[in-house]
Amino acid sequence: MPSLWTDGRLETPTPAGVIDDVQTADVVVVGAGITGLTTAVLLARAGKKVVVVEARHVGAATTGNTTGKVSVLQGGKLANIARKHGTDMLRAYVTGNTEGRDWLLRHCDDHGLSYQREDDHAYAQNTDGLSTVRKVWSACKEAGLDAQWADDADVPFPFAGGVRLREQAQIDPIPFLSSLVTELETHGGTLLQGVRATTVSGLGPLRVHLRKTAGDQDTRSAQQVITTQYCVLATGMPILDRGFFFARLEPKRSYCLAFDVPGDITRSMYISVDSPTRSVRYAPTPTGEKLIVGGAGHTVGRANHPKNAVTELADWALLHYPGAVQTHYWSAQDYHPDDELPFVGPLLPKFENLLMATGFDKWGMSNGVAAALALSSRILGGRMDWAAAFASWSPHELTGVTTALQLNLEVGLNLAKGWIAPIAASSETPEEGQGVVSGAPWRMRATSVVDGVQRTVSPVCPHLGGIVNWNDSDRAWECPLHGSRFAPDGALIEGPATRGLTANG
Ligand SMILES: Cc1cc2nc3c(=O)[nH]c(=O)nc-3n(C[C@H](O)[C@H](O)[C@H](O)COP(=O)(O)OP(=O)(O)OC[C@H]3O[C@@H](n4cnc5c(N)ncnc54)[C@H](O)[C@@H]3O)c2cc1C
Ligand code: FES
Repeated sequence: MPSLWTDGRLETPTPAGVIDDVQTADVVVVGAGITGLTTAVLLARAGKKVVVVEARHVGAATTGNTTGKVSVLQGGKLANIARKHGTDMLRAYVTGNTEGRDWLLRHCDDHGLSYQREDDHAYAQNTDGLSTVRKVWSACKEAGLDAQWADDADVPFPFAGGVRLREQAQIDPIPFLSSLVTELETHGGTLLQGVRATTVSGLGPLRVHLRKTAGDQDTRSAQQVITTQYCVLATGMPILDRGFFFARLEPKRSYCLAFDVPGDITRSMYISVDSPTRSVRYAPTPTGEKLIVGGAGHTVGRANHPKNAVTELADWALLHYPGAVQTHYWSAQDYHPDDELPFVGPLLPKFENLLMATGFDKWGMSNGVAAALALSSRILGGRMDWAAAFASWSPHELTGVTTALQLNLEVGLNLAKGWIAPIAASSETPEEGQGVVSGAPWRMRATSVVDGVQRTVSPVCPHLGGIVNWNDSDRAWECPLHGSRFAPDGALIEGPATRGLTANG
C-alpha cells in the first residue's frame, strides 16, 4: 500500500531505449533513496558524470516509506553509541548527523521545499523506561547537545518523562527526492529507473551489470553493462555479498499509520525508548493535517503474525485520539548495525572504487545525507572530520563482534528451522490473506491466497537459501535470514537478493 508520501506520486520506469544508450560513467550509484541521490548530486555538482541505477522507482524502498523526522536526538540511539564507543565516537556521530540534517534543510530552503521545525522528544511511557531516557539525556550532554529534561508533555498518551531537543525538523521525503533528481539532471547526471544492478565485476575500471527489473524472474533476460571508475551501493543492505555485511546487519521492519484526527493534533515529534515503540508526528497535507503513528517493529521474516502488533498500534492511536480515522497504512525496513554505527566506505578494505552505505537503524534522514557527504568527499579526495563514526571497516567493529555472533547464531537457527519445520506444516490451502510453507525439503512450496488468488512459489530465497515466512500484515514473503522480501507471485520487492522466488514451487 502506498505511504502518505508516495500516494499518487509513483514514477514510471525509464524507456528501454534510453537505458540501452548508457554505457560509461565516472560514478554509478545504485539506489535512488536519500543516500544514493544525495551522493549523486554532490558528485554531479563537482563535475563527475554520474548515473543512478534504481531497480524500482525513486523512494521505492525505505526513503519513500519513512516517518520523515530529521532529528539528531534519535530515540535511544545516542545512549547506545555512548555505551559502546565512548565520547569521541559519539561526538563524531552527532557532528556527522548535525551536518546531514543541516545540509538537508538548507537544500529544502534553497529549493523552496516546505518542512516543519519542531521539537523532538525521546520519552518513557512508564516509570520503568525512565532509566533509559536518563541515559539518553546524559549521552546528549556528553555529545554537547543542548537537550532539556521534560517531566511532562502536552500529549494525550502516557508520558512518564523524556528528553527534548528543540528545533529539529520533519519532512515529506518525496519532494526532497524529486528536487535531488532535478538537480542531478541539471548537472548532466542520469537516472535510470526500473533497472536492477545484479553484480559488479573488474578491479578498475568496474563493470556494473544491469538487468531491466521487469525480467527479474527470468535469469535468461538480457543483461547490460556500464563501465565506471567508481560504484556506490546505496541499496540499504548491500546487494554484493563480498564484505559479509549481511552478517553484520539486522533487517528491522516497522509500520506506520496516518489518521485524520478531530480536534487537536500533537505538534512536536515523539518516540518512546521503551516497548512497544510508539513514534508520533503530524504531517500537513492538501486536505489538512494528519497524525502519523509508527511502531510494531520486528526482525524481518521472524514475526509470527505482524498483523496483531499493527492492530495493537492502531488501537493505541484510537484510544488516545478518539474519533481518529485511518487513511494510510505502510511499512518499511532499515538495517541495525551490529556495533550501532553506520557502515559507510569501501565494501572491501582498501578497494576504494567500490563503496557502500548502510546501517542507519531507522535514522537515515540525517545519516543518509551524512553518508553521502562522507562518500562524495572520499571520491573527490577529501575527508570529513567526523568520518571515523561512519566507517565500513575499522577497529570499532570489534565492539560489534558479540552482537554479530549472536545475530548469526539466530540466522543459523532460522535457516535450520526454515528447512525442517515445513514437513510438519499442513498442506491445506491457507485462508484469505495468509501464506504457508509446506512439504519435505526436496519438494517445499510456499502457498498464499491474496484477494482470492492462490499462488504457489518456491520458498527458497535466491540470496543464500533461507526459507521465507509469510507476513500477514503486508501480505508478502519475507526471508528471516537477511531480510529479502517477495510479493505473493515471487517478484522481488527488496533486500540483498537480486531476483525473485522461482514459480515452480
Ligand atoms: C518505518 C521506518 C520509519 C523511519 N523513520 C525515520 C525517521 O523518522 N527519521 C529518520 O531519520 N529515518 C527514518 N527511517 C530510516 C530512513 O528512512 C532510512 O534510513 C533511509 O530512508 C535509507 O535510505 P537509503 O537511501 O539508504 O535506502 P533506500 O531508501 O531503501 O534506497 C535504496 C534504493 O535502492 C534500490 N535498490 C535496491 N537494490 C537494488 C539493485 N540491485 N539495483 C538497483 N536499485 C536497487 C531500492 O529500490 C531503493 O530505492 C525510518 C525507517 C523505517 C523502516
Ligand atoms: S536474504 Fe539472505 S538468504 Fe534470504
